Amino acid sequence: MRLLILSLLGMLAMATGPARAEADLQRGKTLYATCATCHGADAGGNAALKAPRLNHLREVYVVAQLEKFRNGQRGGEGASAESRQMAPMAATLPDEQAMLDVAAYIASLDSAVPAATVAGDAALGADYYNQFCGACHGPAAAGNVALNSPTLAGSDDWYLLAQLAAFRDGSRGAVAGDRTGRQMRAMAAVLPSEQALADVVAFIHSRAGGGE
Ligand code: HEC
Ligand code: HEC
Repeated sequence: MRLLILSLLGMLAMATGPARAEADLQRGKTLYATCATCHGADAGGNAALKAPRLNHLREVYVVAQLEKFRNGQRGGEGASAESRQMAPMAATLPDEQAMLDVAAYIASLDSAVPAATVAGDAALGADYYNQFCGACHGPAAAGNVALNSPTLAGSDDWYLLAQLAAFRDGSRGAVAGDRTGRQMRAMAAVLPSEQALADVVAFIHSRAGGGE
């Protein structure tokens, strides 16, 4: 029986083609050299260049965003100048495997959690967060793979604020076909004021290091 199952699995593997290769960290490191000029050698980000920290993000989310930058769902027409800057960078990665390799390398790096720069009321922000955000991004803001929701804890607070503003004004998430971006646009619109954005960001920043 066991043998039969094994040979059936073998036939399935042949039918679906070779399994995707493991991520190649060494190749990822080589590819990351371009990225390091803005995101930093440790992927800790660079506020002066508006390039966010990356190494708190899951590989699957990094790959998904790189794909969006490549296909124009992010960083194309109508996007912010920062976002448009990132699109040609993603295009330097030659193929899907390159995106996997660079994402694995980014995840292997570590950097300090960025200092707080946004003044907000984290206690008020907690109320908004638990009501409107936690269902997808998780109680500790660690994200949820099944819902395509990224880790937010550990991100730069100025970047979170800029992204929420971008979802609200349609410079992110409004391009046809961007299903997850559209979902997030609806959620960003729920926050009642600019101050509420700052409050929720202050709460998310306070979750950094909260773990999975
Ligand atoms: C010229 C500077 C620059 C370079 C080089 C660069 N980036 Fe970026 N990257 C940015 C900026 C600025 C943003 C923020 C875009 C925005 O505000 O929408 C960004 C955003 C990202 C994001 C989205 C993060 C998130 O939380 O959604 C990922 C992933 C990313 N970059 C990966 C890379 C990789 C991989 C490379 C190398 C192939 C790279 N970047 C090279 C400037 C750069
Ligand atoms: C229905 C599920 C859902 C809810 C609820 C939700 N989000 Fe999201 N959020 C997502 C998804 C999916 C993405 C990824 C969007 C993409 O692929 O571009 C995202 C992305 C984000 C990003 C961009 C992160 C980055 O690294 O670029 C921020 C910031 C964010 N969400 C904050 C919030 C806040 C604050 C709330 C509550 C007001 C919230 N989200 C509620 C699903 C959700």
